[in-house]
Amino acid sequence: MLNENIIKQIRDYADKNNVPIMMDEGINYLTNYILENGVKRILEVGTAIGYSAIMMCGVNSDITVTTIERDEKRYLEAVKNIKKMELEDRIDLIYNDALEVNLDGTYDLIFIDAAKAQNIKFFEKFENNLNDNGTIITDNMNFHGLVDKEISEIESRNLRQLVRKVKNYKDFLNYNERYETVFLDIGDGLAVSKKRK
Ligand SMILES: C[S@@+](CC[C@H](N)C(=O)[O-])C[C@H]1O[C@@H](n2cnc3c(N)ncnc32)[C@H](O)[C@@H]1O
Repeated sequence: MLNENIIKQIRDYADKNNVPIMMDEGINYLTNYILENGVKRILEVGTAIGYSAIMMCGVNSDITVTTIERDEKRYLEAVKNIKKMELEDRIDLIYNDALEVNLDGTYDLIFIDAAKAQNIKFFEKFENNLNDNGTIITDNMNFHGLVDKEISEIESRNLRQLVRKVKNYKDFLNYNERYETVFLDIGDGLAVSKKRK
């Protein structure tokens, strides 16, 4: 069982320091998915301060998570949080740009929650580490409701570019012959991709 007080402290820190962590609905879906599908080995791209990695580990005592973060301050905060939860043996935290990380292991679940503009690259890089029956889940597919808007309605140029990238990723998943993807209106929108048989 996870220590609820420490979880609350992590959430409060995220709130105060504008660290984006998974919404309740999204994390509930993810933890239920892990439980119902007997997921044991998880790879997460985008640790932030360790909140989702810790929550995923909390589902069962035999779950392990490898998680990657490139921001030093967040990485260091994640190290502290994982230590406080006494999960150092089960969470392998890698401080690097995920696109520079090469992993040998295979995973039952790959959770992509990092730079939205790079989702295709993350997917293509880490699908090699997915078990045949494994699943890739990607967060922020609705991108705070902006994905449903006409691009021309979005004022900021940077945001327009990001929304285009999220839409491109949706197309990439929709037209992917190797994977079947369902899009769920949960939290900020989740894509659940499984290898076609
Ligand atoms: C939305 S946050 C992750 C939240 C976390 N999964 C949670 O729910 O607790 C995204 C994180 O991905 C990190 N990130 C973005 N691009 C990355 C990359 N290429 N490699 C590693 N980390 C990356 C950011 O620094 C940020 O902390």
